[in-house]
Amino acid sequence: MDRVTQLLSQMTLHQKIGQLVQYNANLFIRTSADITGPQAQLGLSNEDLAVSSSVLNFSCAKEVIAIQDAHLRDDPLKIPMVFMMDVIHGYRTIYPIPLGLACSFDPQLAEDCSVMAAKEASADGVQVTFTPMVDYVRDARWGRVMETAGEEPIVTSAMAKAQIKGFQGENMADPERLATCVKHYAGYGGAEAGRDYNLVELSMRELREYYLPAYKACIDAGAPLLMPSFNSLNGVPSVANSLLMKQILKDEWNFDGVVISDYNAIGELLSHGIAADAKEAAKLAFENGCDIEMCSSTYFHHIPQLLEEGAITMEQLDAAVARVLRLKEKLGLFEDPYHGADPEKAEKLFLCPEHRQVVRRAAAESAVLLKNEQVLPFPKDTKTVAVIGPFATEHGIKGFWSCQGRDEDTTTVAQGVENLLGADRVLTARGCGCLWDDTDISGIQEAVELAKKADRVILCLGEPQNYSGEGNCRTDLKLPGVQELLAQQVIAANANTVAVVFGGRPLDLSGLDAVAPAILYMWFPGTEGGNAAADLIFGLRNPCGKLTMSFPRSVGQCPIYYNHPNTGRPHWTAEYKHRGYASDYIDCATLPLYSFGHGLSYTTFEYSDLSVSSQELAENGTIQVRVQVKNTGDRAGKEVVQLYSRDPVASVVRPVQQLVDFRKISLEPGESQWVEFTVTEQMLRFWNMQDQHMTEPGEIRFMVGYADHFLLTQSINRI
Ligand code: GLC
Repeated sequence: MDRVTQLLSQMTLHQKIGQLVQYNANLFIRTSADITGPQAQLGLSNEDLAVSSSVLNFSCAKEVIAIQDAHLRDDPLKIPMVFMMDVIHGYRTIYPIPLGLACSFDPQLAEDCSVMAAKEASADGVQVTFTPMVDYVRDARWGRVMETAGEEPIVTSAMAKAQIKGFQGENMADPERLATCVKHYAGYGGAEAGRDYNLVELSMRELREYYLPAYKACIDAGAPLLMPSFNSLNGVPSVANSLLMKQILKDEWNFDGVVISDYNAIGELLSHGIAADAKEAAKLAFENGCDIEMCSSTYFHHIPQLLEEGAITMEQLDAAVARVLRLKEKLGLFEDPYHGADPEKAEKLFLCPEHRQVVRRAAAESAVLLKNEQVLPFPKDTKTVAVIGPFATEHGIKGFWSCQGRDEDTTTVAQGVENLLGADRVLTARGCGCLWDDTDISGIQEAVELAKKADRVILCLGEPQNYSGEGNCRTDLKLPGVQELLAQQVIAANANTVAVVFGGRPLDLSGLDAVAPAILYMWFPGTEGGNAAADLIFGLRNPCGKLTMSFPRSVGQCPIYYNHPNTGRPHWTAEYKHRGYASDYIDCATLPLYSFGHGLSYTTFEYSDLSVSSQELAENGTIQVRVQVKNTGDRAGKEVVQLYSRDPVASVVRPVQQLVDFRKISLEPGESQWVEFTVTEQMLRFWNMQDQHMTEPGEIRFMVGYADHFLLTQSINRI
C-alpha cells in the first residue's frame, strides 16, 4: 500500500479537511492558546489549526523550521506542512516586473531569473510559489497588468514555461527548487473597465483564442498547482464555474494537480451573490474541484455536514486529500520537511554578486528604448550629468509584488550614474512629485537651472510602484502630477535630455513624446535598476527590449491591442485625422502611440529576402519561413525577429496581424544571419463559430517587422 493510501486509511475526517486549507502563519506561531487577529473572525479552533497543513506567504528559514518542527511533533501522522508564497519577480534580489521581463523576449533570461529566485526562496523556507501569472490582458487601466506578459499569448506562454522550468527544474524535491502554481484561471485580465475583481464577459471564441492558451501551456509544462481567479466569468465566479473547472480543466485538459483558491475567494461567493451562505459556498467550490481553501473557513465548518447530507462523498474528499499529499510527496517533504531551508545559506545568497548580475542583465534587457533622436547613448566622458525628477533618487523602483525585496537594497538612477561616472560629475534635483495630486511646481525652476548647467540630462519620471499591482487600477494613464510640465521646461532648457520612465503598465506618454527627444522605459526594473539604466544610457549595454503591450495615446483608447480585427470601416492612423463614418475618433488617432513589438537599438537592422519553402500549406503540414537580418550599424546589438501572419479571409473576422513566432539574435556590426521559422499548420489555427480549432483554405500572409510596421510580406496558400 503506498504512503498516500496508507495515510488516507488512518486519517480522521478532521485531519483530512486540515489538508484542504491554507492560512497565514500568524496562526501557527502559537504564542498563546488564544487566536487573535483577522483569523479570529474565521472561527477556527486550536484543534482546527493543529491539523491545518499549509501556510500562506510566510518565510524565514528559522521560523519555518520552528513551525514545521512544532507541527510534526504534535501530528500523530507526521504529515508535513507546505509553505507557499508569491515569489513573482524575485525573492530578495528582485528582477523586473513580469510585464517588463516579457519585453526581453528572452525565455532563457526568464528561466535564469527564476532559478535565482528559487534558490533564495527555498533557502528561506518557501516550497511553492504562486507563479507564473499568465492572465491575458488588453487594458492598461488594470493594476495587475504589471504581473502579466501582455497582449500576446505566444509570448506569455513562452515566458511562463521558462519560469516553470527555472523554478521547478527536473525535480521539485530538489532543495533549491520550488513547485509552481499557474494563475489566475481564467480571464481575470479581461475585467470590465480595467477595474480589478470586476466581471468578465467573454465569448468562447475569445476565451479559447486569447485567454486560455497560456494556462494550458503551463499545465502541459508541468505546473502542479492552479489557482482560479476572483472574477466572475460569464456570470459565475471562476472557483464555482463548472465550464472552467470541470469541462475545460478536467475533462478537456485532464489536469490532475492541486487547485487552490485565491485568498478568501470561496468566502467571496457570498459577496458575488452566488452562495446564500458559507455552506453553499463550500459545496460550490468543492464540487467544482477546488482542493485547498485559502484563508476562509467554509471547509472546516461545512464539509462534515455536506458529507452527511451526501452532497459530497468521502471518495471525492479522499481524492482531493490525495492530490495534496501527492504534491507533498513530489516536493520530498516527507523525507525533508524543511525542503532545504537554511538560514545561513539564505543570508549568503541574498543580493550576492552573481544574483545582482542576473537581475542587472534582466533590467537592461527588459528596458525598451521608445524614442531616440540622436541623443543616446551619452558619451562616457560627459563632464556633467544632471539627474532630475521624482525618480532620480527614488529607491522605490522594484515593483509592487516584490516579495522580500527591500527598497533600500535598490540602486537609484543617480547612484547608477555615480557608480559609472563618479559622484563629482552628477547633479540631482527632484523638480516635482509623482503622485496624482502633486500640484506643487515650486521645484521646477531649480531643476531647470540645473539642466542649463549640465552637459546632459537624465529626466527620471513615472508612476509610483504602488499605482499598479493588485487592486491598484487607474482611470488616467498620464504621468501623475506635474511631471509633463517639468519635462517641457527641463527639455526646453537642455535638448540633450533622455526621459527615463518607470511604470507598471503602458502609460499615456503622448505629452512626453511631444517634447522628449529620447524615451527609455524601464518598467520597474528591480534591485539593480539604477545601474542598468546607467549601463544603457552610457552605452555599456545596447537596448533590445520590445513592447509586449500597446501603449495608448489616451486612456480613452483602452482596451487597445495589436491583434485587432479590421472592422467594416477601417481607419488605422498614427496621425489624428478624423474621417467621419469610420472606425476612429473625433479627437485621437486610432493606432497606439507605440505598437506591440516596438523597441529601438543603438544600431540598425536591415531585413531582406523573406522567403517560404513552399507556396502551399496543407492541413497538419509544415512550412519554413526565413528572412535575412543584417546589422547595418556600428555596434553590436540584439534584435527580436518577429514573424507575423494574417488570414485575410476566413469564416470569422481575423486580426490584421498576429504573432506566429519570434527569435532573439545577436549580431556584430556588419554581420548578417538567416533566421528560419518552422511554421506548422497548427500554429495558424483559430477557433471558429462551431468551437473548432482549425485553419481554412485560402491565402495566408507572413510579415516581418513589428505590429503596424511591417517591412516584408510573403503570401502562401492554405490548400
Ligand atoms: C492574492 C492574489 C494572488 C496571490 C494570493 C496569495 O489576493 O490574487 O495572486 O497568489 O492572494 O497571496
